[in-house]
Amino acid sequence: MNLMQTLGLDVPIIQAPMAGAQAGALAAAVSAVGGLGSVGCATLSTEGIRKELEIIRGHTDRAFNVNFFCHEPPLQDDAREAAWRERLGPYYREFGIDASSIPAGPGRAPFSAEAADLLAEAPPKVVSFHFGLPSAGLLARVKSWGSLVISSATTVDEARWLEAHGADAIVAQGVEAGGHRGMFLTDDLSTQIGTLALVPQIVRAVRVPVIAAGGIADAAGVRAVLALGASAAQIGTAYLRCPESTISDIHRDALASDAARHTVLTNLFTGRPARGIVNRFIREVGPMNDAAPRFPLATSAITPIRAKAEAAGSGDFSPLWSGQNATGCQAVPAAELTRELAGL
Ligand SMILES: Cc1cc2nc3c(=O)[nH]c(=O)nc-3n(C[C@H](O)[C@H](O)[C@H](O)COP(=O)(O)O)c2cc1C
Repeated sequence: MNLMQTLGLDVPIIQAPMAGAQAGALAAAVSAVGGLGSVGCATLSTEGIRKELEIIRGHTDRAFNVNFFCHEPPLQDDAREAAWRERLGPYYREFGIDASSIPAGPGRAPFSAEAADLLAEAPPKVVSFHFGLPSAGLLARVKSWGSLVISSATTVDEARWLEAHGADAIVAQGVEAGGHRGMFLTDDLSTQIGTLALVPQIVRAVRVPVIAAGGIADAAGVRAVLALGASAAQIGTAYLRCPESTISDIHRDALASDAARHTVLTNLFTGRPARGIVNRFIREVGPMNDAAPRFPLATSAITPIRAKAEAAGSGDFSPLWSGQNATGCQAVPAAELTRELAGL
């Protein structure tokens, strides 16, 4: 299958879905200039998703991608939650927060029958997933509409698994990538390798189109991954300072600063490893901590600390998601950045 032809793309650029950091406006801008815009839906309600899809459809009739997480939601573990709050106790005291008032909650929801019902009303060209694939029943529904199914692989084994279970294309997510590792067959971080090493190995291992992701920040990077056999480049971090993204000014400023040269994989903010800029919380408690509640339950304990710190202008307790190469981040409209990445 020729991915660009199937999706009617003019340029081999996929704007990465980035839940909580962007939505319809960014996706619409990228799709309208012939790339593939994406919406990260993991932090949106069904009504929120509907609104974002309307924004895209009001702007362009070209292909776009709707992205979901598909993790198995963990059971609430009260003892683990209490021990974690105890660990964060000094910060609650520092910011004057009553820890007993913080609701424990999921933070991010996996793809559901309700979301599928919404998509069925007007199926998008592409539905993509992070952390594997949804249940066979939900996947069959998505496929029955003719939507192309894409998911992320962080190892050759994951790529083979995705192909065997019905993925129509695979994102090879190198360890440089910003945000959550899509890993789902292993939680061993030593299996996570760089884009330059991962892409050609996955290209050799599967027959479906491979999309390269992780650390791609300019037209030369895009050409490099195409030379390695990728059909397109999926780019996240570079889009984060575009006016269409929804990140805070604190996050925007961090991406533009020297601090962005030092990122790390941390599980402190959600419970799963994700790449972000090193800050005080990561230095003092992480970057990885076995005591953190399971994904996505770790989100709730840090939220009020983050809010207080941000209100005081500090990103010390915020997830400042970024890949290892933030040099492509420019405060320019996404259409302009997409053309630049495509070398136009
Ligand atoms: C802020 C942020 C949020 C992300 N959220 C998602 C998401 O919701 N779904 C997903 O499939 N990938 C997500 N990713 C990972 C991207 O799909 C992609 O693998 C990554 O951005 C590529 O590396 P780069 O950031 O170096 O360009 C996210 C990445 C970032 C930076």
